[in-house]
Amino acid sequence: MNSQAINHFLRQKNVSPEVRSLLYHIARSVKYINFSLRAGNTGISGTQNFSGESQLKLDVLADQIISHELENSDLVSILASEEKDMLEEFPSSRAKFVVAYDPLDGSSLVDANLAIGSIFGIWSGEKLEGKKGTDMEAAAYAVYGPRVTLTVALRDRGVHEFELNDVGEFLLTRENIRIEKKSKYFAPGNLRACEVLPAYKKLVDTWVAEKRTLRYSGGMVPDLHHMLSKGQGIFCYPGCAKHPDGKLRLAFECAPFAFLFTEAGGLALDQKGTNILKLPIKEPHQRTTIFIGSEDEVKHAVNFLKK
Ligand code: AHG
Ligand code: MN
Ligand code: MN
Repeated sequence: MNSQAINHFLRQKNVSPEVRSLLYHIARSVKYINFSLRAGNTGISGTQNFSGESQLKLDVLADQIISHELENSDLVSILASEEKDMLEEFPSSRAKFVVAYDPLDGSSLVDANLAIGSIFGIWSGEKLEGKKGTDMEAAAYAVYGPRVTLTVALRDRGVHEFELNDVGEFLLTRENIRIEKKSKYFAPGNLRACEVLPAYKKLVDTWVAEKRTLRYSGGMVPDLHHMLSKGQGIFCYPGCAKHPDGKLRLAFECAPFAFLFTEAGGLALDQKGTNILKLPIKEPHQRTTIFIGSEDEVKHAVNFLKK
């Protein structure tokens, strides 16, 4: 197959040179992270991140790779990382983008050798505070699995998947990914919430009774990538007694995926029914509940939980 390389594809889509360049640097960091993963280095680092989660050496390394790469791009004014307490500021950069990223999503799956990923949200400007998913220029995520893929959502220009080949190029594998309104797949995160939210248990029981197909790995990236690959699905992460806003973070995880899924024709709501894209980022590490995927399924789940 003679597939298009990512740079050529983005040029054809009339993506601005600056966003193209930023995505080039993101793609480079994904290659380096993939290389580090294959080299081993899976132990814990002995430190904790802002959310109190213990960090793997790989969490720290992936964060450093992305941070160095994006600083060197000279395109970024603010970097927000899930693994850093504070924002990094680069006031002298020539173009002004804000990038929020989760360097390694699914760290707890590393020892089990399951697929993991990286997530990126890109905004124009010089401030993260107050930004919403709707303001994004682009979002992307990488999957480090048996194959390495990079999926990119461009504002009003669709969602496209590229695969890393042996000579280090990302080649187009799927163009204009779409997600159907209905789904037979379900990915019910945080089932601990059933304790305080009996309607959640009922919802999951209904899906089981309807003989729907469970697809849940415990990694947001591979779980959502499954849905985009099959063109349907619903992923839930509601709040529980201990974490009323759930676990997943708005800037690093939920807003970028809400942008990706909305560009693909899907939907992302929080537990109250607010569109995730409309939630302003007040604080980099802020959490939100999330219901994301096929539009009808997401609306049904959120309405069902309100009962
Ligand atoms: P991270 O590894 O970046 O901290 O994120 C892990 C997240 C996400 O990938 C997944 O959907 C969720 O944690 C699962 O959480 P629990 O199994 O702890 O409920
Ligand atoms: Mn994560
Ligand atoms: Mn992470």
